[in-house]
Amino acid sequence: MPAFIKAMLPALLAWTVSAQKPQFPPAFPPTPALPSSVNYAPSITPNVLDATAPNAQAECPGYRASNIRETQNSLTADLVLAGEACDLYGYDIHELTLNVEYQAKERLSVKIYPRYLASNNESLYTLSPDLTPQPSAEEGSNKAGSDLVFTWSNDPSFQFRVSRAGSGEVLFDTFGKKIVFEDQFLELVTSMVPDYNIYGLAESLRAFRLPNKFTQTFWNAYNLDNDNILDVNGHSTHPVYLETRYSNGTSKSHGVYARNAHGQDWLLRPDSITYRTIGGSFEFYFLSGSKPKDVISQYQTGVITTPYLPAYWHLGFQQNRWGYLNWTNLQDVIDAYADAGIQLEAFTNDLDYLNLNRIFTHKDPQYNVEEGQRFLERLHASGQYYLPILDPNVYAPAPENQTDIYPPYDRGVELDVYIRSGANTSEYYYGVLWNGFSAYPDFMSPAAQQFWTEQFVEYHEQLAYDGWWLDVSDATSFCTGSCGTGMLDENPIHVPFPLPGDPNTSVAVDYRYPEAFNLTNATEAASASASLASQSSAYPTPTATPTPVLARTLPTPGVRNLTFPPYAINNFLPGHSLVKQVLSPDAVHKNGMTEYELHNLYGHTSANASYHALLQAIPGKRPWIQSRATFAGTGNFSGHWGGDTNSKWGNMYFGISQALQFAIAGIPYFGVETCGFNGNADMQLCTRWMQLSAWFPLYRNHNNRNTIAQEAYRWSTTAEATRRIMDIRYTLLPYTYTLFHKANTAGETVLRALAWEFPDEEDLKAVETQFMSGPSILVTPVLEALATTVKGLFPGVGSGTIWYDWYSLQKVDAIAGENKTLQAPLVHQPIHVRGGSIIPMQKAGNTTKTSRMMPWSLLIALDKNGEAQGELYLDDGISIHPDETKNVELRFSRGILSTKVSGEYNDGLSLANITIAGAHGRQHRGWSAHHGGKACDTQRAKMMYGEGGVLYMTDLGESTRDGIWSGDFEMRLH
Ligand code: GLC
Repeated sequence: MPAFIKAMLPALLAWTVSAQKPQFPPAFPPTPALPSSVNYAPSITPNVLDATAPNAQAECPGYRASNIRETQNSLTADLVLAGEACDLYGYDIHELTLNVEYQAKERLSVKIYPRYLASNNESLYTLSPDLTPQPSAEEGSNKAGSDLVFTWSNDPSFQFRVSRAGSGEVLFDTFGKKIVFEDQFLELVTSMVPDYNIYGLAESLRAFRLPNKFTQTFWNAYNLDNDNILDVNGHSTHPVYLETRYSNGTSKSHGVYARNAHGQDWLLRPDSITYRTIGGSFEFYFLSGSKPKDVISQYQTGVITTPYLPAYWHLGFQQNRWGYLNWTNLQDVIDAYADAGIQLEAFTNDLDYLNLNRIFTHKDPQYNVEEGQRFLERLHASGQYYLPILDPNVYAPAPENQTDIYPPYDRGVELDVYIRSGANTSEYYYGVLWNGFSAYPDFMSPAAQQFWTEQFVEYHEQLAYDGWWLDVSDATSFCTGSCGTGMLDENPIHVPFPLPGDPNTSVAVDYRYPEAFNLTNATEAASASASLASQSSAYPTPTATPTPVLARTLPTPGVRNLTFPPYAINNFLPGHSLVKQVLSPDAVHKNGMTEYELHNLYGHTSANASYHALLQAIPGKRPWIQSRATFAGTGNFSGHWGGDTNSKWGNMYFGISQALQFAIAGIPYFGVETCGFNGNADMQLCTRWMQLSAWFPLYRNHNNRNTIAQEAYRWSTTAEATRRIMDIRYTLLPYTYTLFHKANTAGETVLRALAWEFPDEEDLKAVETQFMSGPSILVTPVLEALATTVKGLFPGVGSGTIWYDWYSLQKVDAIAGENKTLQAPLVHQPIHVRGGSIIPMQKAGNTTKTSRMMPWSLLIALDKNGEAQGELYLDDGISIHPDETKNVELRFSRGILSTKVSGEYNDGLSLANITIAGAHGRQHRGWSAHHGGKACDTQRAKMMYGEGGVLYMTDLGESTRDGIWSGDFEMRLH
């Protein structure tokens, strides 16, 4: 047996033992067998890949504008079909309204929607501002003062352009193309400049700079086998992109947001982008930029609202795994982290704590409530947190079974909160998930909010959890249609396929050896292969029933086909089918809207309801909620993780561009499953991944049930590398927290592409192997197995930017455009500090709480003029509305450091030391300082020059013992 499998045997055995108890887990295969139809859905020809599909541009007539009305800041017109209806993938809407608004200097909106909206069809075409923000015109905005200009023509049919005022540069251009507006198909084409650079359109695992032969589909989806397939639709929908154009050594950027939540395709082609949705309206917002950071900020501050400010503790490290069997198991892991000297802030427990995977329950005796209370007391006393999983679907008990009592479901029925299975029925929709047949709260309804809040509050009274990770909110169901209807008597059932770790199945143990393992340990790798072969032959994977292929649906005028619409978006799930592995599009919400319109919003609305419920359960504190599925605006109340990442080097690599996508999308609290979720990680991969993720605001290690253990202490080298990088992360907490404050107040980003910080350097446009944390830190991670060096660019050096090595504070000797080789032995990650920065820091403690009690230090990295600046934001780090805050501006110039403080918050901590990198030139012999107007006693302080112009000033403590930020500070070097 391979040694790496031996390592996980105790956990696997314990699992097998508990699995022998009746009904736990529900048996696989489900008994009696579910009808084979539950897991299969017919497929239809996808149009985007189907060369024979009719081309709407060729066959549809377009529109003609008339009755133009203009005001100072708007233009409206009627659009009437310019010929015979084509009724190609739906039913042509004959009369539309065009509405153009100059909403702000930097924002223009263009909306096209049916002219006759009636109460019975309005919600099909308009996305309510209650669901996601809809910006309106700012007071005083007008066409004359706008950065952007809208022009249009009727020749040959209605077409429009958006250009920059002044230069006339065209940013969006439908000239020569038709507008197609049907009830189930909308299409609009914009011409693009050659070799265009666009970024965003989250979520998908792929290159940072989007390819120009690529289709991005939006249909939030989940595939258990391989959640991290490259280039396909992911868990989130963010129809917004940033475009950058370079010319003559400079660049300009702009943004485009298409506010529509329907299933959609964005066809990126060499000279155009074709935007297609299967419903709703055209609702575009154009943002003038003109630098990438401006575009992102304009999107977040002006359109979707800015990201929430996390609590300080949200920035600590979290451990997770599916397969921690009981409280003792969790305590052992906590103790092991402490013994290894690695910071652990929180536990994010998976399904294991639940009774039969039913939400708001506990499994006894493994996760007994009283024992849990004692566990939590200890955890909280040591400044750590507990974050269990929450799935949004509610187990529906067998109605006839008097012993199968599940009060949360009954309460939901009482309040009538669940989504229904069709338009003309009061029957709830029953999908299937980990807990069996279950119902789905309609989180848009006030009743569901009440239900959810009650459950959160009640549960919190039993067990004082600190937040939830909201999983499978895509919304997922592993069967087709309301498969539980008439079958609830079978509950509890198992999903219709074996789950990782289910005993006596083909996925009981994941024997796939780690990716680079055969290079380092060929013998073990061979033995793992043999075990895999024997498990596979003992438990062959059932052959899937062939999926019947349907002919393409033909449109019926006036009738919407919700489950098989005439245009098939390029959903990656089998057959591109919309009914596969999600709530069926014909499921009906309480307000009469269907999942067809709302599917991509389930993650958004459930996270929003969870946020508000947490505000009641844990009053006054900033909620920790992270949602697996998100939409535009979710970042205002939730974070997000990148799905079930595979333990593969390539998955780790693409996590960087995924994080940058979410920076654009306004969800900076993002992270990926460090060391990978599916499959086995080895020491190398886990070491490099712990280093990389240390820069991601959400930092958690998570692992599947049937794989080897991968906590950061499992391998001594990983542990050592983790201690080193985590000390850096915790030392920089004040800096990162300040970045989040700027994100929250001004739509700035936390993680940044190099191209956003150095927007005029064209050679940075596709860099996805390096990134920045805020404006001052450059990270060059190792993304390859067995590498001990890594190459990286040093942006700005051509125009005088200085970079210092984080560890030695020595200036980097790099030339413009050079891909410099950096030493990177396993325990080391290259990090550089940008000259011109002042970074306030606190020595790392074992939690964020103890880190916050450490005295302050300042790292001053001088630029070529011997100057630097920085800023700092502080508050109590937890309250929703902190009573007191502090803003500090820091500046160093001509040998003088000065700070300017505003706000009342005072942590009472002194300034212990100052380090100045790049202090060449005149050697200073002493210094004097004033704090809050009083001269400081500097007698005990020490000053020393190190190699390469690093000036260390230490033992400053006494001078600022009232708290360095309690008053302005000025220090002069003599
Ligand atoms: C989903 C989640 C994963 C979790 C698993 C079991 O796959 O994405 O994080 O471990 O469900 O709850």
